[in-house]
Amino acid sequence: MPDAGRQREKVLAAARAIRHGAGPGGGQGFRVVVTGKGGVGKTTITAALAHLFGREGYTALAVDADPQMNLPFAIGVSTDRGEEIVPLTENLDYIEEKTGARPGAGWGLMLKLNPDAADVVDRFGMTGPGGVKILVMGTVVQAATGCLCPENTLLDAVVHAITLRKGEVILMDTQAGVEHFGRSLAKGFGQALLVTDPSFNALTVVKHAAALARELGIPHVHLVVNRVRSDRDRERVREILGSDIALFTEQFWLPYDERLLACDPGVLPLLSWSPPPPFLQELARIRDTLEKFGTR
Ligand SMILES: Nc1ncnc2c1ncn2[C@@H]1O[C@H](COP(=O)(O)OP(=O)(O)OP(=O)(O)O)[C@@H](O)[C@H]1O
Ligand SMILES: [Mg+2]
Repeated sequence: MPDAGRQREKVLAAARAIRHGAGPGGGQGFRVVVTGKGGVGKTTITAALAHLFGREGYTALAVDADPQMNLPFAIGVSTDRGEEIVPLTENLDYIEEKTGARPGAGWGLMLKLNPDAADVVDRFGMTGPGGVKILVMGTVVQAATGCLCPENTLLDAVVHAITLRKGEVILMDTQAGVEHFGRSLAKGFGQALLVTDPSFNALTVVKHAAALARELGIPHVHLVVNRVRSDRDRERVREILGSDIALFTEQFWLPYDERLLACDPGVLPLLSWSPPPPFLQELARIRDTLEKFGTR
Protein backbone atom coordinates (compact mmCIF):
# COMPACT_ATOMS: atom_id res chain seq x y z
CA MET A 1 0.00 0.00 0.00
CA PRO A 2 1.42 3.45 -0.80
CA ASP A 3 2.38 5.63 2.19
CA ALA A 4 -0.58 8.02 1.81
CA GLY A 5 -2.98 5.07 1.69
CA ARG A 6 -1.43 3.50 4.77
CA GLN A 7 -1.59 6.80 6.63
CA ARG A 8 -5.26 7.18 5.73
CA GLU A 9 -5.98 3.61 6.92
CA LYS A 10 -4.28 4.41 10.24
CA VAL A 11 -6.25 7.60 10.76
CA LEU A 12 -9.53 5.85 9.91
CA ALA A 13 -8.71 2.96 12.27
CA ALA A 14 -7.87 5.33 15.12
CA ALA A 15 -11.06 7.30 14.49
CA ARG A 16 -13.11 4.11 14.54
CA ALA A 17 -11.50 2.97 17.79
CA ILE A 18 -12.17 6.32 19.45
CA ARG A 19 -15.77 6.30 18.20
CA HIS A 20 -16.27 2.92 19.84
CA GLY A 21 -14.88 4.37 23.04
CA ALA A 22 -12.16 1.77 23.53
CA GLY A 23 -9.27 2.99 21.48
CA PRO A 24 -6.53 5.40 22.40
CA GLY A 25 -8.05 8.24 24.36
CA GLY A 26 -11.33 6.34 24.51
CA GLY A 27 -13.30 4.89 27.39
CA GLN A 28 -13.30 1.64 29.31
CA GLY A 29 -11.54 -1.27 27.64
CA PHE A 30 -13.10 -4.67 27.24
CA ARG A 31 -12.09 -8.22 27.94
CA VAL A 32 -12.51 -11.40 26.01
CA VAL A 33 -11.73 -14.93 27.19
CA VAL A 34 -10.91 -17.60 24.61
CA THR A 35 -11.56 -21.22 25.48
CA GLY A 36 -12.25 -24.65 23.97
CA LYS A 37 -10.88 -28.16 23.61
CA GLY A 38 -7.18 -28.87 23.10
CA GLY A 39 -5.66 -28.08 19.72
CA VAL A 40 -8.70 -26.39 18.17
CA GLY A 41 -6.89 -23.11 17.44
CA LYS A 42 -7.38 -20.98 20.58
CA THR A 43 -3.84 -19.64 20.67
CA THR A 44 -3.68 -18.96 16.93
CA ILE A 45 -6.96 -17.06 17.08
CA THR A 46 -6.04 -15.09 20.22
CA ALA A 47 -2.68 -14.06 18.75
CA ALA A 48 -4.08 -13.05 15.37
CA LEU A 49 -6.92 -11.08 16.97
CA ALA A 50 -4.45 -9.25 19.21
CA HIS A 51 -2.61 -8.10 16.08
CA LEU A 52 -5.83 -7.16 14.31
CA PHE A 53 -6.91 -5.02 17.26
CA GLY A 54 -3.44 -3.47 17.39
CA ARG A 55 -3.75 -2.52 13.74
CA GLU A 56 -7.04 -0.79 14.52
CA GLY A 57 -5.32 1.53 16.94
CA TYR A 58 -6.19 -0.35 20.13
CA THR A 59 -3.80 -1.31 22.87
CA ALA A 60 -4.06 -5.07 22.77
CA LEU A 61 -3.08 -6.99 25.90
CA ALA A 62 -2.76 -10.71 25.31
CA VAL A 63 -2.90 -12.69 28.54
CA ASP A 64 -1.57 -16.21 28.46
CA ALA A 65 -3.37 -18.23 31.11
CA ASP A 66 -2.30 -21.56 29.64
CA PRO A 67 0.51 -23.26 31.59
CA GLN A 68 1.99 -24.32 28.24
CA MET A 69 2.75 -20.61 27.65
CA ASN A 70 2.89 -20.59 23.87
CA LEU A 71 0.94 -17.40 23.23
CA PRO A 72 4.06 -15.16 23.11
CA PHE A 73 5.48 -17.27 20.25
CA ALA A 74 2.18 -17.20 18.38
CA ILE A 75 2.29 -13.39 18.62
CA GLY A 76 5.77 -13.47 17.14
CA VAL A 77 8.13 -13.21 20.11
CA SER A 78 11.44 -14.87 19.24
CA THR A 79 12.60 -17.97 21.07
CA ASP A 80 15.46 -15.99 22.63
CA ARG A 81 13.20 -13.29 24.00
CA GLY A 82 10.67 -15.91 25.03
CA GLU A 83 13.26 -17.51 27.27
CA GLU A 84 13.44 -14.27 29.26
CA ILE A 85 9.81 -14.50 30.25
CA VAL A 86 9.21 -15.41 33.87
CA PRO A 87 5.56 -16.30 34.33
CA LEU A 88 3.76 -14.41 37.04
CA THR A 89 3.21 -17.50 39.17
CA GLU A 90 6.97 -17.96 39.28
CA ASN A 91 7.63 -14.38 40.33
CA LEU A 92 7.81 -15.38 43.95
CA ASP A 93 9.03 -11.98 45.16
CA TYR A 94 6.14 -10.21 43.48
CA ILE A 95 3.63 -12.67 44.87
CA GLU A 96 5.07 -12.19 48.34
CA GLU A 97 5.19 -8.41 47.96
CA LYS A 98 1.54 -8.33 46.95
CA THR A 99 -0.05 -11.07 49.03
CA GLY A 100 2.22 -11.06 52.05
CA ALA A 101 2.95 -14.77 51.60
CA ARG A 102 5.54 -16.67 49.65
CA PRO A 103 4.28 -19.64 47.65
CA GLY A 104 5.17 -22.89 49.35
CA ALA A 105 6.33 -21.15 52.54
CA GLY A 106 3.18 -21.71 54.52
CA TRP A 107 0.13 -19.63 53.84
CA GLY A 108 -3.30 -18.80 55.08
CA LEU A 109 -3.38 -16.48 58.05
CA MET A 110 -1.20 -13.69 56.71
CA LEU A 111 -2.55 -13.62 53.18
CA LYS A 112 -3.81 -10.27 51.92
CA LEU A 113 -6.93 -11.23 50.06
CA ASN A 114 -7.24 -8.19 47.84
CA PRO A 115 -3.74 -7.31 46.73
CA ASP A 116 -3.34 -4.29 44.50
CA ALA A 117 -2.00 -5.70 41.25
CA ALA A 118 -2.62 -2.64 39.08
CA ASP A 119 1.10 -2.39 38.28
CA VAL A 120 1.39 -5.92 36.96
CA VAL A 121 1.33 -5.19 33.25
CA ASP A 122 3.85 -2.37 33.54
CA ARG A 123 6.20 -4.47 35.62
CA PHE A 124 5.90 -7.84 33.99
CA GLY A 125 4.25 -7.33 30.64
CA MET A 126 6.34 -7.70 27.50
CA THR A 127 5.76 -5.71 24.35
CA GLY A 128 5.76 -8.03 21.39
CA PRO A 129 5.74 -7.45 17.63
CA GLY A 130 3.06 -5.04 16.44
CA GLY A 131 3.06 -3.36 19.87
CA VAL A 132 0.98 -6.22 21.34
CA LYS A 133 1.43 -6.40 25.11
CA ILE A 134 1.83 -9.83 26.58
CA LEU A 135 1.34 -11.04 30.13
CA VAL A 136 2.17 -14.64 30.93
CA MET A 137 0.36 -15.95 33.98
CA GLY A 138 1.93 -19.39 34.37
CA THR A 139 0.17 -22.24 36.06
CA VAL A 140 -3.28 -21.35 37.29
CA VAL A 141 -3.84 -23.83 40.09
CA GLN A 142 -7.45 -24.89 39.93
CA ALA A 143 -8.78 -21.34 40.06
CA ALA A 144 -12.31 -22.71 39.98
CA THR A 145 -11.95 -24.35 43.36
CA GLY A 146 -11.21 -21.03 45.01
CA CYS A 147 -7.99 -22.27 46.62
CA LEU A 148 -6.59 -19.54 48.83
CA CYS A 149 -2.93 -20.03 48.02
CA PRO A 150 -0.80 -16.94 47.27
CA GLU A 151 -0.49 -17.70 43.52
CA ASN A 152 -4.23 -17.89 43.03
CA THR A 153 -4.95 -14.89 45.19
CA LEU A 154 -2.57 -12.90 43.03
CA LEU A 155 -3.94 -14.25 39.76
CA ASP A 156 -7.43 -13.37 40.89
CA ALA A 157 -6.26 -9.86 41.71
CA VAL A 158 -4.46 -9.60 38.38
CA VAL A 159 -7.51 -10.64 36.41
CA HIS A 160 -9.50 -8.10 38.38
CA ALA A 161 -6.89 -5.32 38.11
CA ILE A 162 -6.51 -5.54 34.37
CA THR A 163 -10.20 -4.84 33.91
CA LEU A 164 -9.55 -1.40 35.26
CA ARG A 165 -7.20 -0.30 32.52
CA LYS A 166 -8.77 2.02 30.07
CA GLY A 167 -8.49 1.97 26.32
CA GLU A 168 -7.37 -1.64 26.15
CA VAL A 169 -8.65 -4.81 24.62
CA ILE A 170 -7.69 -7.77 26.75
CA LEU A 171 -7.68 -11.16 25.10
CA MET A 172 -7.07 -14.10 27.39
CA ASP A 173 -5.97 -17.45 26.00
CA THR A 174 -6.71 -20.33 28.34
CA GLN A 175 -5.68 -23.93 28.66
CA ALA A 176 -7.70 -26.66 26.98
CA GLY A 177 -10.97 -27.75 28.51
CA VAL A 178 -13.36 -25.95 30.80
CA GLU A 179 -12.37 -27.25 34.22
CA HIS A 180 -10.39 -24.10 34.95
CA PHE A 181 -13.14 -21.90 33.63
CA GLY A 182 -14.40 -20.85 37.01
CA ARG A 183 -15.78 -17.76 38.58
CA SER A 184 -12.47 -16.00 39.05
CA LEU A 185 -11.40 -16.40 35.43
CA ALA A 186 -14.76 -15.41 34.07
CA LYS A 187 -15.22 -12.46 36.41
CA GLY A 188 -15.43 -9.26 34.49
CA PHE A 189 -15.16 -10.85 31.06
CA GLY A 190 -17.81 -9.31 28.89
CA GLN A 191 -17.35 -11.80 26.09
CA ALA A 192 -16.15 -15.33 25.49
CA LEU A 193 -14.98 -16.91 22.26
CA LEU A 194 -15.67 -20.61 22.42
CA VAL A 195 -13.47 -22.24 19.83
CA THR A 196 -14.17 -25.66 18.32
CA ASP A 197 -13.48 -27.68 15.21
CA PRO A 198 -16.23 -29.69 13.52
CA SER A 199 -15.54 -32.80 15.65
CA PHE A 200 -18.10 -34.19 18.08
CA ASN A 201 -15.72 -34.04 21.05
CA ALA A 202 -14.72 -30.42 20.52
CA LEU A 203 -18.36 -29.45 20.05
CA THR A 204 -19.30 -31.21 23.28
CA VAL A 205 -16.70 -29.10 25.09
CA VAL A 206 -18.06 -25.83 23.69
CA LYS A 207 -21.63 -26.79 24.55
CA HIS A 208 -20.56 -27.35 28.12
CA ALA A 209 -18.46 -24.16 28.14
CA ALA A 210 -21.35 -22.12 26.73
CA ALA A 211 -23.69 -23.25 29.49
CA LEU A 212 -20.99 -22.53 32.07
CA ALA A 213 -20.18 -19.12 30.62
CA ARG A 214 -23.84 -18.18 30.73
CA GLU A 215 -24.09 -19.39 34.32
CA LEU A 216 -21.06 -17.31 35.22
CA GLY A 217 -22.79 -14.27 33.79
CA ILE A 218 -20.71 -13.61 30.67
CA PRO A 219 -23.15 -11.58 28.58
CA HIS A 220 -21.87 -12.39 25.09
CA VAL A 221 -20.71 -15.90 24.25
CA HIS A 222 -19.67 -16.43 20.64
CA LEU A 223 -19.14 -19.67 18.76
CA VAL A 224 -16.00 -19.94 16.62
CA VAL A 225 -15.88 -23.04 14.43
CA ASN A 226 -12.34 -23.42 13.16
CA ARG A 227 -10.87 -25.71 10.46
CA VAL A 228 -14.07 -25.79 8.43
CA ARG A 229 -13.51 -27.56 5.10
CA SER A 230 -16.96 -27.82 3.58
CA ASP A 231 -20.67 -27.10 3.80
CA ARG A 232 -21.01 -30.63 5.11
CA ASP A 233 -18.87 -29.55 8.11
CA ARG A 234 -21.25 -26.68 8.76
CA GLU A 235 -24.28 -28.94 8.60
CA ARG A 236 -22.64 -31.40 10.92
CA VAL A 237 -21.85 -28.67 13.46
CA ARG A 238 -25.46 -27.46 13.35
CA GLU A 239 -26.76 -31.01 13.77
CA ILE A 240 -24.53 -31.73 16.75
CA LEU A 241 -25.25 -28.44 18.48
CA GLY A 242 -29.00 -28.71 17.88
CA SER A 243 -30.97 -26.23 19.97
CA ASP A 244 -27.81 -25.38 21.96
CA ILE A 245 -26.80 -23.12 19.11
CA ALA A 246 -29.12 -20.59 20.76
CA LEU A 247 -26.60 -20.30 23.60
CA PHE A 248 -24.33 -18.30 21.32
CA THR A 249 -24.63 -14.61 20.56
CA GLU A 250 -22.84 -14.86 17.19
CA GLN A 251 -21.32 -17.65 15.10
CA PHE A 252 -18.11 -17.60 13.08
CA TRP A 253 -16.70 -20.10 10.61
CA LEU A 254 -12.95 -20.11 10.04
CA PRO A 255 -11.80 -22.21 7.10
CA TYR A 256 -9.06 -24.80 7.24
CA ASP A 257 -5.92 -23.29 5.71
CA GLU A 258 -2.79 -25.38 5.55
CA ARG A 259 -0.62 -22.26 5.23
CA LEU A 260 -1.29 -21.74 8.94
CA LEU A 261 0.64 -24.89 9.71
CA ALA A 262 3.46 -23.61 7.55
CA CYS A 263 3.85 -20.45 9.65
CA ASP A 264 3.25 -22.21 12.99
CA PRO A 265 3.90 -21.19 15.77
CA GLY A 266 3.77 -17.53 14.66
CA VAL A 267 0.79 -15.82 13.07
CA LEU A 268 2.55 -12.76 11.67
CA PRO A 269 3.09 -14.11 8.12
CA LEU A 270 -0.64 -14.79 7.94
CA LEU A 271 -1.39 -11.11 8.47
CA SER A 272 0.59 -10.01 5.47
CA TRP A 273 -0.74 -12.48 2.92
CA SER A 274 -2.18 -10.79 -0.07
CA PRO A 275 -4.99 -11.02 -0.91
CA PRO A 276 -6.13 -11.57 2.70
CA PRO A 277 -7.06 -15.24 3.08
CA PRO A 278 -10.68 -16.09 4.00
CA PHE A 279 -9.40 -17.12 7.45
CA LEU A 280 -8.25 -13.56 8.04
CA GLN A 281 -11.42 -12.02 6.63
CA GLU A 282 -13.54 -14.01 9.07
CA LEU A 283 -11.18 -13.05 11.91
CA ALA A 284 -11.72 -9.41 11.02
CA ARG A 285 -15.46 -10.07 11.36
CA ILE A 286 -14.82 -11.52 14.83
CA ARG A 287 -12.80 -8.44 15.75
CA ASP A 288 -15.59 -6.14 14.57
CA THR A 289 -18.18 -8.11 16.54
CA LEU A 290 -16.08 -8.06 19.71
CA GLU A 291 -15.66 -4.33 19.27
CA LYS A 292 -19.40 -3.85 18.77
CA PHE A 293 -20.43 -5.82 21.88
CA GLY A 294 -17.38 -4.90 23.95
CA THR A 295 -18.30 -1.32 24.44
CA ARG A 296 -22.01 -1.70 24.89
N1 LIG B 1 -7.87 -22.94 10.41
C1 LIG B 1 -6.76 -23.65 10.52
N2 LIG B 1 -6.28 -24.36 9.45
C2 LIG B 1 -5.16 -25.09 9.57
N3 LIG B 1 -4.42 -25.16 10.68
C3 LIG B 1 -4.84 -24.48 11.77
C4 LIG B 1 -6.02 -23.70 11.75
N4 LIG B 1 -6.16 -23.13 12.97
C5 LIG B 1 -5.12 -23.53 13.72
N5 LIG B 1 -4.33 -24.35 13.01
C6 LIG B 1 -3.09 -25.02 13.47
O1 LIG B 1 -3.47 -25.96 14.46
C7 LIG B 1 -2.45 -26.10 15.45
C8 LIG B 1 -3.05 -25.92 16.85
O2 LIG B 1 -3.46 -24.58 16.98
P1 LIG B 1 -3.37 -23.83 18.38
O3 LIG B 1 -2.08 -24.08 19.04
O4 LIG B 1 -3.79 -22.43 18.12
O5 LIG B 1 -4.50 -24.60 19.18
P2 LIG B 1 -4.87 -24.47 20.73
O6 LIG B 1 -6.34 -24.65 20.84
O7 LIG B 1 -4.30 -23.24 21.30
O8 LIG B 1 -4.09 -25.74 21.32
P3 LIG B 1 -3.81 -26.08 22.87
O9 LIG B 1 -5.10 -26.59 23.44
O10 LIG B 1 -2.75 -27.13 22.81
O11 LIG B 1 -3.36 -24.82 23.53
C9 LIG B 1 -1.38 -25.08 15.10
O12 LIG B 1 -0.34 -25.75 14.43
C10 LIG B 1 -2.09 -24.09 14.16
O13 LIG B 1 -1.21 -23.53 13.23
MG1 LIG C 1 -3.06 -22.96 22.96
